[in-house]
Amino acid sequence: MTLQETSSPASVWNNIEGIAFGGDYNPEQWPVSVRLEDLELMKEAGVSFLSVGIFSWALLEPAEGTYDFAWLDEVMDNLAGIGVKVALATATAAPPAWLVRKHPEILPVTADGTVLGPGSRRHYTPSSAVYRRYATGITRKLAERYKDHPALALWHVDNELGCHVSEFYGEEDAAAFRSWLKRRYGTIDALNASWGTAFWSQNYGSFDEILPPAVAPSTLNPGQQLDFQRFNSWALMDYYRELVAVLREVTPGVPCTTNLMASSATKSMDYFDWAKDLDVIANDHYLVAADPERQIELAFSADLTRGIAGGDPWILMEHSTSAVNWQPRNQPKMPGEMLRNSLAHLARGADAVMFFQWRQSFAGSEKFHSAMVPHGGRDTRVWREVVDLGAALKRLAPVRGSRVESRVAIVFDYEAWWAGEIDSKPSVDVKYLDLLRAFHRQLFLRGVSVDMVHPSASLEGYDLVLVCTLYSVTDEAAANIAAAASAGATVLVSYFSGIADEKDHVRLGGYPGAFRDLLGVRVEEFHPLLAGTQLKLSDGTISSVWSEHVHLAGAEALQTFTEYPLEGVPSLTKRSVGAGAAWYLATFPDREGIESIVDQLLEESGAAPVAAADPGVELTRRRSDDGRSFLFAINHSRSSALVQASGVELLSGERFEGSVPAGGVVVVAED
Ligand code: GLA
Repeated sequence: MTLQETSSPASVWNNIEGIAFGGDYNPEQWPVSVRLEDLELMKEAGVSFLSVGIFSWALLEPAEGTYDFAWLDEVMDNLAGIGVKVALATATAAPPAWLVRKHPEILPVTADGTVLGPGSRRHYTPSSAVYRRYATGITRKLAERYKDHPALALWHVDNELGCHVSEFYGEEDAAAFRSWLKRRYGTIDALNASWGTAFWSQNYGSFDEILPPAVAPSTLNPGQQLDFQRFNSWALMDYYRELVAVLREVTPGVPCTTNLMASSATKSMDYFDWAKDLDVIANDHYLVAADPERQIELAFSADLTRGIAGGDPWILMEHSTSAVNWQPRNQPKMPGEMLRNSLAHLARGADAVMFFQWRQSFAGSEKFHSAMVPHGGRDTRVWREVVDLGAALKRLAPVRGSRVESRVAIVFDYEAWWAGEIDSKPSVDVKYLDLLRAFHRQLFLRGVSVDMVHPSASLEGYDLVLVCTLYSVTDEAAANIAAAASAGATVLVSYFSGIADEKDHVRLGGYPGAFRDLLGVRVEEFHPLLAGTQLKLSDGTISSVWSEHVHLAGAEALQTFTEYPLEGVPSLTKRSVGAGAAWYLATFPDREGIESIVDQLLEESGAAPVAAADPGVELTRRRSDDGRSFLFAINHSRSSALVQASGVELLSGERFEGSVPAGGVVVVAED
C-alpha cells in the first residue's frame, strides 16, 4: 500500500499564491541582525516560499533529548509575519555528532567495506533501526511544535535521498536486503529461479546465505545486482515513508515531499516508483557549466520531472543563481541565464522556482556556491537578477496550474537503465541515455514538446512514441507499447530494446523478443562496433556503437548497412500496424542520421513543433483547464529571433510583436 492510499493531505498549492519563489533558507548560519535584514530583502525580491532547517538537527537537538527551538520559532514567526510559506525540513539529512558517537552503527558502508564517517552530511544508512528511531524522534518533535504554525505549508522530508551514497553494504543493510528478498520471492527456490543461480554454482539453500553484491573475483550475478539496485531504491523510500507516517499522524493535513535529483546524472533511484508516495513532486537541478548545450540537459531533466509528476505541476526545489562549487571549474551563469533557466523549468511544468540557497554562506564547504543574496550583497548582478526574476514570476501567475502539451512520448524506465548497464553486455558503449537523449535533443532543437512516460503508463493521445535501448521490459509494458501503434501512433523501437524480461532473463527465439512481432523483424546476432569505428548506411549517413544481423519478418527495410559482413542487412525498418506503424532502428546514427529519422517520424506521425520560430529558440506551450494557452519562447542565441505567435506577452504586458531579443524570454498568453 502506498501512503497516498492511506490518507490525502491538502494540496501544497492551496497554500501558495501564484508561482512560488524562494529557496533553501539556512538562518542558523547567521546572527539575528542578518536574519532581520533577510526579511527586508525577501520582501524586496518577492520571496514567497522557503525550505527551512534542512541541516539543523545538531542545533535543534544539541544533546540527546535536549531541544532548542527558540531560533526556529523566531524564524518561523518572522517568515509568517511577511507572508512567506515554509517547506519545513525534518532536519534529518545530517545526523548530529553525539548520535554518531553513541551509535556508530548508523554510518553507511560502501561495497569495499569502508565506513563513511561524519564531518560532512548524509552519514547514515536508511536501513538502520537506530537511525530511524532518532530520525522519527526529531521529526515528531518538529511536527508537534509547528503543527499549527501559519507558515507551515509543506514537509521537506530529509534532503536529496540517495545523494552522495545510494548503495548500502553494512550488516543491517544485508539483513534488510534478505528480508526484502523474502517478501519479493517467498521461497528460496523462486529466488534461485529468478537469479538463474544454476549458473556458476550460485544456488542458495536459504535466504540467510545471501549477501549484498559487494566485491568478488569476477562479475556478480546480474539478478542479484538488479535486485540490490531495486532494494536500495526501496530502502531509501521506506525510510521516507517511516518519517512521513509520523508527519501524517501529527499533521494529517500537511503535504509531504522530498527533493529528487531527476537528471541525466542520477540513475540509482526509481523516481517513477517513488512518485506514488510524494504528495507533490519536487526536483533539484544543476547545470553542468562545461556543457555547451546545458539548456538541453535542463530541458531533459525538467521533462523527466514532469513525467515523474504524471504531468501535474511540480516544484523546482533547488537550482543555482550562478556558479556551483562542486564542479572542477565553477563558471558563473551568463547574464540572463538564470532567468532563462528558471522560465525553462516553468515552461516545462514547474509552478515553483527555488534556489539553493537564499544567502551565500561565509563558512563551510559551500561558501563559494552562489545564492540569491551573494557575498557582495545587494549591489551585484546576481541580486538584481533575483529581484527581476521575482517580479517576472509575479507577472506569470496566470500560468499556474496549466499543463504542458506534448504529442510525443519518450518511454523512460529506471529499471531498464539499471538492467541494461549491468556488466557483461555485448558492448560497454550502449548507455541507456545516449540514443534517448540524442532524440530528445533533436526534438528540443525543433521546438517539439516531449513527455517522458513510464513504459506501463498510458500512451493514449501520443502521435509519436520513442522506445530507446529499453533493454528490459515486462510483458504488460511491451503490450502497452504495441497497443499505442495499433491505436495509430508511430512507434520507434531501437536496438537493444525488449531483450530481457524484468528478471533479466533473455527472451528467446530471436531478438528483440518483446517487440519482435510488433516490429516484424528478427535479429539473429549482435555486431557491436569496436571503439572509434563507424559504419556507412545506404542513405549516406553514418552510424556507430551498434549493428546487428536483422531479418525482415513482416517489416520493410527503409535503410541498410553497407559494410562487410552486413551488406544489405536492414538498419532501419517499418511495419504498418493497425492505424499506426512500428519502426525499428538497428544502429546508433550520427547527428544527420538522427535528424533525417526524426524528419521522417514527424512527417508520418503529424507531431509538430509548438510554433514556427527561428533556430535557437526553445518552445513549449502550457494549457489551462479553461482553454487558455501560454507559449513560452526562450531565445538561447545571441541574436534576436522571430517566433510566430499572437497574444499578450505576460512579462511586458504588451502585445507580442513577433521577436524575442537575444538571450530573452517571452511568455505569450495566446489569443
Ligand atoms: C544539493 C543539496 C544542497 C546543496 C546543493 C549545492 O542540491 O540539496 O544542500 O548542497 O546541492 O549545489
